[in-house]
Amino acid sequence: MRAAKRGAMKAFTYRDGVMHAEDVPLPAIAEAVGTPVYVYSLAKLVAKARDFREGLSALEKPHLAFAVKSNPNLAVLRVLGREGYGADVVSGGELTRALAAGIPPEEIVFSGVGKTHAELLQGLEAGIGQFNIESEEEGYELALLAKRHGYRARCALRVNPDVDARTHAKISTGKSKNKFGVPLDRAGAIFAALAGEEALELRGVAVHIGSQLAELEPLETAFTKLGALIAELRAAGHTITHADLGGGLGVSYRHDENFPTAAEYGEMVARVTAGWDVRLMFEPGRFIAAEAGVLLTRVIRKKRSGNGPPFVVVDAAMNDLARPALYGAWHEFEAVAPTGERATAHIVGPICETGDTFAMDRECDALEAGELAVFRTAGAYGATMASSYNSRGFVAEVLVDGERFAVVADRIAPGAIMDAERVPDWLA
Ligand code: LLP
Repeated sequence: MRAAKRGAMKAFTYRDGVMHAEDVPLPAIAEAVGTPVYVYSLAKLVAKARDFREGLSALEKPHLAFAVKSNPNLAVLRVLGREGYGADVVSGGELTRALAAGIPPEEIVFSGVGKTHAELLQGLEAGIGQFNIESEEEGYELALLAKRHGYRARCALRVNPDVDARTHAKISTGKSKNKFGVPLDRAGAIFAALAGEEALELRGVAVHIGSQLAELEPLETAFTKLGALIAELRAAGHTITHADLGGGLGVSYRHDENFPTAAEYGEMVARVTAGWDVRLMFEPGRFIAAEAGVLLTRVIRKKRSGNGPPFVVVDAAMNDLARPALYGAWHEFEAVAPTGERATAHIVGPICETGDTFAMDRECDALEAGELAVFRTAGAYGATMASSYNSRGFVAEVLVDGERFAVVADRIAPGAIMDAERVPDWLA
């Protein structure tokens, strides 16, 4: 099978009028596990992981680290670990997960602007592959901790290239006003200062300008700036062996959008980084996981609204899938067993705030109370961003592999969350 085709394989398709995840009809999952539930396709995860790797085939031994934040489910991490992916983690919790999923510590990169002492130490003790240092201050703290505990920390300096990623403001990270990395014009001085720390093996640089990028150009601009920095650092006598180019490659959330392919991305990277003579590292999240998941939901009821379109109230809500409420994000909404009839509707969840709206005036499959539907492209930044707002508990997750499926995250009932709460004696 050709790589382009592999990445494009369809995991959620209609057979005999019913949407399946691979070979499993979605109603069977709804019946067994209840709704709402995230459903992931193993084959699609693997296809996307291979597609990304294939896109970078012109590079020598790129290091691929799956951005755990996009989908931290242990089974998902296991799948990607088996595909030879390391992990990009941003918290002690994510580090613990990556290790629990069997990802070798040396394949783990630790990013994040606010790593605590405890987290830095956890990374040192685990022997992770690389810390991406986000500030001079963090660099000194890491050096101090490493020295105190007898470690030498492999690390890279994350720079902020001041490039507009032209994506949603809340997921843009590479402008100078964003909190991430050190300013490019100070990077040389900071690198030199930190390179003097015996306990740091400062070996490279890192950049990540944002997520859901629809164009390659901002990435190319950022990488070009990083290349110039590498040359500058080498001219100053530093040894640079690694460059981490982050994640950010977007995916199409609508049926009709055109996004850069892994091959186009790889071609651009190969061109821009030619002659860098470093090991390139990547941190894709969304590109791998987004299309491998749907959020399966059931219509609670259809409610008439004045003269406008009806409200289709589904049992999923903004606490389960936050992206529409948070970023105004679009997720395709389709009936699991469409009748062919179409309608215009407002798609909303049951939560008591107006922001709990998935779509307004959406032209979609006509749906009635009790029927099943999906929000597509929900495999990344879906379950992982869930909360228990309105005391709704946490949604379940299912992984499908051909004809079989397994619950890979139990639904957490509101009562279980309440069990962690205490009323002090002095209120009794
Ligand atoms: N590396 C770093 C340092 C990051 O901050 C991120 C994402 C990634 C890699 C992975 O980026 P990706 O390849 O997935 O674009 N919750 C938002 C997305 C936030 C992304 C944060 N950082 C959303 O739902 O759109």
